[in-house]
Amino acid sequence: MGKQRVLSGIQPTGDLHLGNYLGAIRNWVEIQRDYDSFLFMADLHAMTVPHDPAALAESTYKVAATYLACGIDLDCATIFVQSHVPAHTDLSWLLTCITPLNWLYDMVQYREKAIKQGENVGAGLLCYPVLQAADILLYEPDKVPVGEDQKQHLELTRDIAARLNYQFGKENQPILKLPDPMIRKEGARVMSLTDGTRKMSKSDPSELSRINLLDSPEEIQHKIKRCKTDPIRGLTFDDPERPECNNLLTLYTILSNQTKEAVAEECREMGWGQFKPLLTETAIAALKPIQDKYHAIMADKGYLESVLRQGREQAEAIANVTLAKVKSALGYSTPL
Ligand code: TYM
Repeated sequence: MGKQRVLSGIQPTGDLHLGNYLGAIRNWVEIQRDYDSFLFMADLHAMTVPHDPAALAESTYKVAATYLACGIDLDCATIFVQSHVPAHTDLSWLLTCITPLNWLYDMVQYREKAIKQGENVGAGLLCYPVLQAADILLYEPDKVPVGEDQKQHLELTRDIAARLNYQFGKENQPILKLPDPMIRKEGARVMSLTDGTRKMSKSDPSELSRINLLDSPEEIQHKIKRCKTDPIRGLTFDDPERPECNNLLTLYTILSNQTKEAVAEECREMGWGQFKPLLTETAIAALKPIQDKYHAIMADKGYLESVLRQGREQAEAIANVTLAKVKSALGYSTPL
């Protein structure tokens, strides 16, 4: 039996941060030997919020370089750009037509972002999860490795696939395969450095709220120095009254490759004055090899282009087959 398939993607808007790394990319790297991986840059999703046309293509390349710099191996993985594979938008339209509007209005991310955009909120923001469902369903993955915030979108993806199968499939012959989410407990929800009750996010207006993967040692030091803490001595996990403490200890645990128990023991008596330099040093050391590799890859545009060209070919070979299957089930004629 062949390997199972995983698929996931990241929007190339803003700099990637520790949440993207610990919630997603690091897990992709860890599992890549056991799965056939399809990883993409969700550049079509980038337009659901106001975007900068002058920066989009470059940001897309930067995310691809980041995947490689974090350790994605092309022997196990296909890396491609969403907009290079037109089947994504084709299937998205077909799925849009079978998705009830109220399913989309229920999406938490839509509601949160729509509030921020006020009267200017675009239809793209509402339909965003349908495009995401198309991204996933085209590749018939077994699992979709993401952070906790994507859970609702993955449930919707399953609901849309099940609805299409029910409405247009034959009994015991589903058209689309229902994928399972793969959400790791540790790092699934990295919180903001300035508010331990909110997730670390590219769209937070405060730069101090996140550590970006390409931050310099000085920036990392500054952000950790300024991050929110509490006046209590002795550091503990899982205290609901101390969300910042839990978040910073979790970051330290993952970045230093230790167990939660070992860190709980190490930090039990520590004050923030001792812990912050430790976390700073650990974060700088963990990001340095990624940053070095990233800069080397970005300096070789030709290589990156060849990766994406090959990625597109491999992605299209699968996506077009699924699209054709769905179109046929929906009664479309084949192109002459
Ligand atoms: P995006 O670009 O917001 O985030 C990319 C990945 O990073 C994870 N993530 C986090 N994990 C832990 N803590 C955080 N603070 C944190 N912030 C972000 C996300 O869960 C995600 O795994 N809609 C998606 C992109 C997308 C996609 C897809 C993903 C489009 N099509 C198909 C999977 C499959 C998004 O905006 O992710």
